[in-house]
Amino acid sequence: VIDIRKLYGDTGYFTYDPGFTSTGSCESKITFIDGDKGVLLHRGYPIEQLAEKSDFMEVCYLMLHGELPNAKQKSEFERSITYHTMVHEQLSQFFRGFRRDAHPMAVMCGVVGALSAFYHDSTDIEDPRQRMVASHRLIAKMPTLAAMAYKYSIGQPFVYPRNDLGYAENFLNMTFGVPCEPYKINPVIAKAMDKIFILHADHEQNASTSTVRLSGSSGANPFACIAAGIACLWGPAHGGANEAVLKMLGEIGHKDRIPEFIARAKDKNDSFRLMGFGHRVYKNYDPRAKVMQQTCKEVLAELGIKDDPLLDIAVELERIALEDPYFVEKKLYPNVDFYSGIILKAIGFPTSMFTVLFALARTVGWIAQWQEMIADTSQKIGRPRQLYTGATTRDYVPVEQR
Ligand code: ACO
Repeated sequence: VIDIRKLYGDTGYFTYDPGFTSTGSCESKITFIDGDKGVLLHRGYPIEQLAEKSDFMEVCYLMLHGELPNAKQKSEFERSITYHTMVHEQLSQFFRGFRRDAHPMAVMCGVVGALSAFYHDSTDIEDPRQRMVASHRLIAKMPTLAAMAYKYSIGQPFVYPRNDLGYAENFLNMTFGVPCEPYKINPVIAKAMDKIFILHADHEQNASTSTVRLSGSSGANPFACIAAGIACLWGPAHGGANEAVLKMLGEIGHKDRIPEFIARAKDKNDSFRLMGFGHRVYKNYDPRAKVMQQTCKEVLAELGIKDDPLLDIAVELERIALEDPYFVEKKLYPNVDFYSGIILKAIGFPTSMFTVLFALARTVGWIAQWQEMIADTSQKIGRPRQLYTGATTRDYVPVEQR
């Protein structure tokens, strides 16, 4: 606690907490994490149970409404999401304005932000019905926009959404299908994709979710808020880590070189970190990483990939790191991003799409958190203070005297 009276006069106290390591910014009923025990609950349900028994549409409903849907509610919700999967045709022109080699996350920041220019009838944040329509639109349109970003980058025509397919299946078809030939959907891969979406659905007040809440606290519309979340997620310390993990595994190249990289990660004079390791909240194994590791094995087996060199390096890297006193003492364990890249690469996604998939899945968490914040009338505009360390008052000097 800093006594700022010396700096600002008698305006009271504030906590100085860079990185908000011990600052709670809101109340929430959506997600609970016990970082020491490695527990993650959504609305009370353990992530392991949701990943094994539920599906992403059900988890979306749970996030938004607080309860699992009954059969009627589930089918109505699915119908509403399916109804909203198309995007305004003019948005395809928007894509064509980007360079082909643009990073798809750069494209996503732009096109998701642009949704507020197309869907004015769901930007009145005072109206609960409009808030829900905007939420459904975002969940429904993210796969379409993500697939369009991919198609544009490889120069293939856009594939329109299909209402007869499930959420993950439709996304796979829009990504890997072509208009003249639908993608042959492998149910094991579609299930794995759905599981990956569940594992990324929400994670309480992480950097991107806090960004969405902070943007929303000023009354900005939901599409603009989610675009802000996407921008934040892009960074390698957050959602960009899945892309960074694969780059790192490729750079390591062989199991023999692991000790060299472990040594670099421990060297304080080297900025290198083991990507996919460590977490602000988990000081134990990230429960999502365990499910992800299992899913990774299932996907590789299904695709007949017996010896994936990157998986071999990842498993060995994890083994060595978890026995190393540096990682043990600092409680650095694999996080959700450590294995996800290997699965996504095996399915056929280029590394540049990894964080886009994270954004697609996290959209439900962002929008549920946004809804919770807007409904909470005690919330004020987010406005942290600062510890000013600059110059004290001084007189202006004309340019010719400087
Ligand atoms: N490799 C090597 N050392 C590490 C790593 C790592 N991956 N992560 C943390 N450390 C060390 C730090 O150097 C620091 O050491 P010190 O106390 O001697 O200075 C200590 O562990 C604590 O690290 P902080 O950076 O202070 O912890 P913080 O909570 O701020 O950071 C973060 C968490 C950003 C996730 C960090 O662990 C990291 O950079 N990991 C790699 C990137 C990554 O995988 N990000 C994905 C996070 S999960 C997600 O967003 C979905």
